[in-house]
Amino acid sequence: MKIIKLTMSMLLALSLVACGGEEKEEKKESSVSIGGQTEQRETTSTESSSENGDEDSDLLKLTIEGSDQMKFNKKELKAKAGSEIELTLKHVGEMSKQAMGHNFVLLSQGIDIMAFGERAAGAADNDYIPEDAGDDVIAHTEMIGGGETTTVTFTAPEKGEYDFICSFPGHVALMKGKFIVE
Ligand code: CO
Repeated sequence: MKIIKLTMSMLLALSLVACGGEEKEEKKESSVSIGGQTEQRETTSTESSSENGDEDSDLLKLTIEGSDQMKFNKKELKAKAGSEIELTLKHVGEMSKQAMGHNFVLLSQGIDIMAFGERAAGAADNDYIPEDAGDDVIAHTEMIGGGETTTVTFTAPEKGEYDFICSFPGHVALMKGKFIVE
């Protein structure tokens, strides 16, 4: 019986295609016919939304922008301890990486941001990340220029407040914020 229904609906769909009907509508119609009930459609949509939900809880996507005005658009980012974070940095300006480079550097607790900025300024050859940074840096993106986007994935550290900065020479004074882990 189901096969017959399917065949009928396919024929119907085909004839609709031939008449120039809208393809999307036909697909819905045929899936309803196959299931015989609208229930199937509901189940399908529930499944797909729960899949999205799982993705969200496994991976926290954060976005921050840097501008030609030497500013981040956020002063605060929040995350849960131990969560996987995919942080995207967008340079929404037009200036070059050499003139107005931006990166996102998440520092460990107890690191003085101004002192780190000075060390970073001497590390031009290493994208302005001090070669000996070691544990001082929890995560960082590459340095980018206007119109570029970069992403870094890392695990949120333990609960607490952390500093994030842009380590381009001179930027730390303005490009800084708090990364709050709850
Ligand atoms: Co910068």
